[in-house]
Amino acid sequence: MVGKICGTGSYVPPHVMDNDDLARIVDTNDEWIRERTGIGKRHIAEDETTSYMAGQAALRAVSQSGIDPEEIDMILVATSSSETVFPCAACEVQRIIGAVHAVGYDLNAACTGFVLAFNTAQAYISAGFCKTVMVIGADSMSNLLDWTDRGTCILFGDGAGAVILKAAEGEPVYMAAHSDGKKGPALTQLSRHRKDWENEQNKESYLHMDGQGVFKFAVRKVPEIIEEVLEEAEMNLEDIDYFVLHQANKRIIEAAAKRLKVPIDKFPMNLEEYANTSAATVPILLDEMARGNMLCEGQKIMLAGFGAGLTWAACLFEW
Ligand code: COA
Repeated sequence: MVGKICGTGSYVPPHVMDNDDLARIVDTNDEWIRERTGIGKRHIAEDETTSYMAGQAALRAVSQSGIDPEEIDMILVATSSSETVFPCAACEVQRIIGAVHAVGYDLNAACTGFVLAFNTAQAYISAGFCKTVMVIGADSMSNLLDWTDRGTCILFGDGAGAVILKAAEGEPVYMAAHSDGKKGPALTQLSRHRKDWENEQNKESYLHMDGQGVFKFAVRKVPEIIEEVLEEAEMNLEDIDYFVLHQANKRIIEAAAKRLKVPIDKFPMNLEEYANTSAATVPILLDEMARGNMLCEGQKIMLAGFGAGLTWAACLFEW
């Protein structure tokens, strides 16, 4: 058995901050941000929490799939910015959607989290432990940022995306995942929230990043892991209809496409609108592709994520 996607959903907060808005807070400008990242704006949570956004994305996925929430056996939420350490966001999602028979737990692998949660759900389904799994990526990055640091605050946004996987007969799913803990210092975040830090004036507590280090890592590791999964599947790059990559930076995606020698139109992007929503980028993009009628049965989709840890993961499945 494999997990087939039977519904997708996403949610972003209505409040939009564009590059000109950011230029009023830090020394930056629209041209620099667009040229170096491809980002035009980001949606920023005001009162919305991470688990609220996850719940809204989940409700939309349930309504699109037509399944009864009571059928869901498991809810996995990939997040590194939940408003509570516990209870986990997945249990709050369970309450919001009324998935009374599900077990829920969160996974944290930063921006790679959704792809790893997707792989985890596939493993539970293929082992026969679960039939219907809700997989969510949700993050409120705005709570983690130093809004006086132009090197990081321009890159991120808030949002959530969800997919529902249902056990079915089908083509095998192929996956790979790696970590390099030695490179942890390249991207770090202490586990506390902005409002506490503001009170303490403690800048060390915000997200810290070696931008160029992370850039080089992503450009090298994403093509490598895609090739690794293709080798396992005994398939070629031409067999893949879409490469759905973590939406961190347009230049990273373009560089990966160039290294792989695959036309850029096989790499859909939406980071101009949402920026990097961490674990939420891949499922938000999948939802937009599904609702935009870009996807049809039998297409081969390659997911690839990368981020803090450092971690990177990929998954090849049939739509
Ligand atoms: N606006 C204007 N200028 C800025 C700026 C901003 N927001 N941020 C940095 N600069 C300046 C720097 O101070 C530097 O100026 P200097 O040459 O006078 O010292 C110049 O722009 C170049 O900075 P640099 O850091 O070399 O830019 P870059 O081309 O590496 O781009 C990132 C910076 C952060 C956009 C890029 O490294 C990146 O995207 N890295 C990956 C980060 C990422 O995706 N992280 C999440 C992964 S999950």
